[in-house]
Amino acid sequence: MKVGILTGGGDAPGLNIAVYTLTKLLEKKHEVYAIYHGWRGILDKEVRRVTSKDLIDFAFTGGTFIRTSRTNPFKDEARAEVFARNLKELGLDVIVAIGGDDTLSAAAQTQARGLANVVGVPKTIDNDVYGTDYTIGFDTAVNEAIKVTENFKTTLISHERVGVVEVMGREAGWIALFTGLATMADFVLIPERPVNWDVVANRVKEVYRGRGWALVVVSEGIKEYGGPRDEFGHSRLGGVGNELAQYIEKVTGLETRAVIPGHVIRGAPPTAFDRVLAVRFATEAFNAIEGGDFGKMIAYRGGDIVRVPITEVLGKNRLVSGYWMRLYETYWGT
Ligand code: F6P
Repeated sequence: MKVGILTGGGDAPGLNIAVYTLTKLLEKKHEVYAIYHGWRGILDKEVRRVTSKDLIDFAFTGGTFIRTSRTNPFKDEARAEVFARNLKELGLDVIVAIGGDDTLSAAAQTQARGLANVVGVPKTIDNDVYGTDYTIGFDTAVNEAIKVTENFKTTLISHERVGVVEVMGREAGWIALFTGLATMADFVLIPERPVNWDVVANRVKEVYRGRGWALVVVSEGIKEYGGPRDEFGHSRLGGVGNELAQYIEKVTGLETRAVIPGHVIRGAPPTAFDRVLAVRFATEAFNAIEGGDFGKMIAYRGGDIVRVPITEVLGKNRLVSGYWMRLYETYWGT
């Protein structure tokens, strides 16, 4: 069979390992093709045969060697027609789409329209793909956010300041929650739990009175500032950390600084967890292809690797809730 592999949406540490491992397994029996720049690779016919030997040197770095984009192949019918035509000409039997909700929804449409068989693999540092406990890249991003926060903390303590760390996370506050728990931040703000900023300022004032410094972690997704939108309708986020720091300084009179690591936490080399997760997801994607089990997304549930129909997970986000929200409330409930 001719099997194409693509990565779509924001890059995530561990993608290269997934692509490499899958190629290594597939190439024994099948022709493997890298589809460059996500779904755009089909529209541009940027599809090239690859071997694991081509990929090994970059397999353990962050980023995605086969590139990515936020191209929506079904943006309009004219584009969808080019997409269908090109896919036919390329003759790919199976596409493994490694991505978040947007990439996976395009995969589901590709399968539903009978254009190719697909297998989905979830990745995003945000960890918000429905139906899986973990996505490739989340663990690394959290570990990097913790490093930044701990470094920031030492200088906050030294100067007796208040600090605000803004981390990525569009719909879901997983990165902020895990960073806050791991560093025992004094307050954490996540999109799932709107909070009046005066509550944050009061907590900061109280903590500061006791020990002379305070730390707040905020998810970028709590506020949108408009600006350009991508082909799936998402606006660019970022900047709320600065606004919150200014607010806290104004209300409390305490010197407050913000840091926004932004994409830096996304570009790091993958942690052990993300490496092994990528290998396990790739192995299961290979098993699905060998078994002719298409239209499925590989998922991590309670430590096991399973397959779920892609259609079951689309259009929903995995948000902070249940046990995790209770944990949030334990420390930052108002
Ligand atoms: O898709 C995950 C993500 O890292 C979000 O947390 C963030 O808002 C977005 O990507 C940033 O995307 P870009 O790289 O296009 O700026």
